[in-house]
Amino acid sequence: MPHSFYKKLAEAPNVFTFKDYVIVPGKAEVEPSQVDINSSFTKNIRVSLPFVSSPMDTVTESEMAIALARMGGIGVIHRNMTVEEQVEQVRRVKRAESFIIRDVYTIQPESTVSQAIEVMNKYNISGLPVVEGDRLTGIVTKRDVSFADLNWRVCDVMTKKVVTAKPNVTVEEAKKIMHDHRIEKLPVIDDKGKLLGLITIKDVYSRERYSTATRDPEGRLRVAAAISPFDLQRAKALDKYVDVLVCDVAHFHNTNILNSTKKVANEVKADLVIGNIGTGQALKDSISIIDRVDGVRVGIGSGSTCMTSVITKAAAPTLFAVASTADAMEELGLEIPIIADGGIRNSGDALLALAAGASTVMMGMVFAGCRESPGNLIKIGGKYYKPLRGMGSLSARQKRFVIDRYASAAKGIAEGVEGYVPYRGDAQSVIEEFALGLRASLGYSGANSIKDLWSKARFGLVTNAGLEELKPHDIILPGE
Ligand code: XMP
Repeated sequence: MPHSFYKKLAEAPNVFTFKDYVIVPGKAEVEPSQVDINSSFTKNIRVSLPFVSSPMDTVTESEMAIALARMGGIGVIHRNMTVEEQVEQVRRVKRAESFIIRDVYTIQPESTVSQAIEVMNKYNISGLPVVEGDRLTGIVTKRDVSFADLNWRVCDVMTKKVVTAKPNVTVEEAKKIMHDHRIEKLPVIDDKGKLLGLITIKDVYSRERYSTATRDPEGRLRVAAAISPFDLQRAKALDKYVDVLVCDVAHFHNTNILNSTKKVANEVKADLVIGNIGTGQALKDSISIIDRVDGVRVGIGSGSTCMTSVITKAAAPTLFAVASTADAMEELGLEIPIIADGGIRNSGDALLALAAGASTVMMGMVFAGCRESPGNLIKIGGKYYKPLRGMGSLSARQKRFVIDRYASAAKGIAEGVEGYVPYRGDAQSVIEEFALGLRASLGYSGANSIKDLWSKARFGLVTNAGLEELKPHDIILPGE
C-alpha cells in the first residue's frame, strides 16, 4: 500500500541551493580586515583559511596541495592512481618544507662523485650529508662536485669539518648559525654524532614567508588524501605519512560502506573524514556505527561536473546538506567540523555554506582553473583553459581506481561530465581573492569570525525573478 503522495508532499523539505538565498546585512562591529577566518578542517587540524581542494584528478596532486597548505588551507590528493603513486604524492608535500627534515637523503664516504651527482639530480637537491653507518662524517654539495673527477671518492671532495646543530635547536638559533657560517645546510646530530636530520636555509625562509601555512608539529605542510572505505591497504599505506584520510564515495549512507569505514577508523591513526553525506539522518547513522569521525564531507549533486541528480533525481544540494547535518550535529551535541563540498563558484557561495554551519568549503571547479592543478593549459579561441572532469566521468573511470565511488549497479553510467574551465592563474591569487571576498561578506553579516557567523547569520530567500537584480544588469559588459 503506497503512502499518501500528498502527505509526503506536505512533509517535503525545501532542498535549497546557493542561488536561493542571500545573507541579510547585520551591524558590523569590526572592519573586514580584522575579521578572523581561521577554522577547523577536522577535530584536530586547524586551518587559517577555510579552503580545501577536491580529490579530483584534474584538481589536486602535490603541487596544488603544497600551494594550498602554504596559503593556510589544505589539499586532498585524489585517489585515481596506484597506492604507490598516491603515497609518493603525499610524501612530496611532506618533503616540500619542514624545519628539520627527518627523511634525509645521504651518501657514503666511499661512494663516487658520480654517484653523489646522481642522487642530487634524482631528488633535485643541492647537497648530501655523508654518513658512515648512521654517523655524520662530512657534507658534500653541488659546488664540491662540479669540478671534481667523476671517479673520485666522496670523502676526497667533501667538507670534513661540518657545522652542526643539536636536536633541540630553535628556528632562530639555526638561522643565526647558518648566517654566521655562511652555510645553507645544517645537519642535526646527537651527542654521539648520529645524524638525526637536516635544516636548510630555504625551509627557514619559507617558514617566515608563509607564516600562516597549515603545518604539522614538525613544521611540514599538512596534507589529506582520498580513500575508498573498501581499500584498507591504501588507507594503511597512506596513514604512515598523511594527516587526514578523506572517504571519497558519492553516497556514504550505505550499510556496507558504514561497516567498512568502521574497520578503517579502527586501523588508522590519521584523522578520518567521512562522506559524502547529505542529511542529518546520514550523520546520525554514521556516528552510531563508526567509532571515530573527525570531519564530515557533505553535499550530493551540486558539483560542477555532477550528473548524479540528472540521472538519478537524487540530490542533497550542498547548502541544504550543510544545514541538515549542522542541525543534527547540534541535536547530538557534537562538534565535528563540516566540509561543504560541491557547487561553490565564488566567495559568496562559500559564505553561505559557512553561515549554514560548515567550517570549511571544498572546491573542485575553482581550483581546476589554477596553474597548480594537473593538466595542460590549452588555448581555445584566443583564451586559456584547463581541463576539468568529474571523477564519475567515463574517462576518469577508465583508470578504474575510482570505480567504487558509485553504486555497483550504476557502474556503467557516467555520473560526471568532462570539459574545460577558464584559466585563473596562480592558486595564491585565487585564494587571496576568495579570502578578501569572504572577509567582506563576514563584515556585511556583522560577524567577526566563522563561529560568530553561525549564530549571527540571517538568511533571505530570493525569488526566481529577483535573481536578475542581484547581479550586474542593464549594462553591456566588455566581451558580451
Ligand atoms: P565543484 O562544484 O567545486 O564540486 O567542482 C567538486 C565536488 O564534486 C564532486 N564530484 C562529482 N560528483 N559526479 C558527481 O556526482 C562526478 O563525476 C564528480 N566528480 C567530483 C566531488 O564531491 C567534488 O569534491
